[in-house]
Amino acid sequence: MKKAAKFTKIVGILAVLFAMSVGGGVSLFANGQKDDGKVKIGVSMPTQSLQRWNQDGSNMKAQLEAAGYNVDLHYGGDNDIPTQVAQIENMITGGAKVLVIAAIDGSALTEVLKQAKEKNIPVIAYDRLIMNSDAVSYYASFDNFKVGTLQGSYIESRLNLKTAPGPFNIELVTGAPDDNNVNFFFGGAMSVLKPYIDSGKLKVPSGQTTQAQAATPNWSTEESQRRFENIITSVKYGPRGVKLDAVLCSNDSTANGVTNALVNAGYTRDNFPILTGQDCDKPSVKNMNAGIQAMSVFKDTRTLASKVVEMVNALAKGTKPTVNDTTTYNNGTGIIPSFLCDPIIVEPKDIQTVLIDSGYYKAADIQ
Ligand code: BGC
Repeated sequence: MKKAAKFTKIVGILAVLFAMSVGGGVSLFANGQKDDGKVKIGVSMPTQSLQRWNQDGSNMKAQLEAAGYNVDLHYGGDNDIPTQVAQIENMITGGAKVLVIAAIDGSALTEVLKQAKEKNIPVIAYDRLIMNSDAVSYYASFDNFKVGTLQGSYIESRLNLKTAPGPFNIELVTGAPDDNNVNFFFGGAMSVLKPYIDSGKLKVPSGQTTQAQAATPNWSTEESQRRFENIITSVKYGPRGVKLDAVLCSNDSTANGVTNALVNAGYTRDNFPILTGQDCDKPSVKNMNAGIQAMSVFKDTRTLASKVVEMVNALAKGTKPTVNDTTTYNNGTGIIPSFLCDPIIVEPKDIQTVLIDSGYYKAADIQ
């Protein structure tokens, strides 16, 4: 080999080694399988039965397509785990170069993701952490513990728990036991409320105080309604019965079930308990306008989608995606570097500025 050619080759090898050490690898897509000349990204969402995941899916698709990718988007039936696993498998064999996955059951993807790892396909866990898999490269979500503390602190301030003598009656409703987020939502809320429960200022007359007792399979509205009807009957809550001061609900789909049960039991806006939620789903925003749900936590899915697109772009360039948390989320194989967006409280007075003026909803959507 001529001296000059040898030099060029050595420089080339050094450049590749440098890129690997700085960026964690050369561009993933350098020799990537392409579709219509575009790199394929697999996006797997859990269900279409809840508004937020439809928005997440369409935001992701639109933003990834605008960035020049080919998007293979699927929803896992109605929270059907085997369907989601099969869809992910098809994405892997179909040539996806990055997988973005919001898991139905955070612990059910270990096997299928071994195939992603074998093919060096990076996996971004979207909103919900995927557990027990070393194939997960990054996690993008909201600060889920803060979601819980916002709900707990809201109840604390509305009942004036720091100074009022009490006692007050509260009931607790959280979400799907197989969703890792529940540990953070419930944990965050309890970090504020449990001291009051322990001191007796807050009473939980149903006696259902643990996360397992408060759980709602699949975050189902029907399940939370059924459970809450039983609680109303057994405790004898009612506008003219035992006073119910607050219900901690981890999200809007469960809050809607509790609302149905309370309305059926005769509660109106004049005596409705303080009810929390999360997502600012349209039915809940309407209930806030009607004065029956007190608050929801807004997580702008457009922001989350844009952070994930930034992660995908970074991986495409062979650089490391930006993260802002490297301590909180251990999925059982180690800490997963995370980007956490900021959740905020929305009360009826904030609907116009936060949800309408920002273009998230049109006024007609929530009338
Ligand atoms: C999400 C919430 C959502 C819930 C039910 C959670 O993992 O973070 O925004 O309400 O799932 O779909």
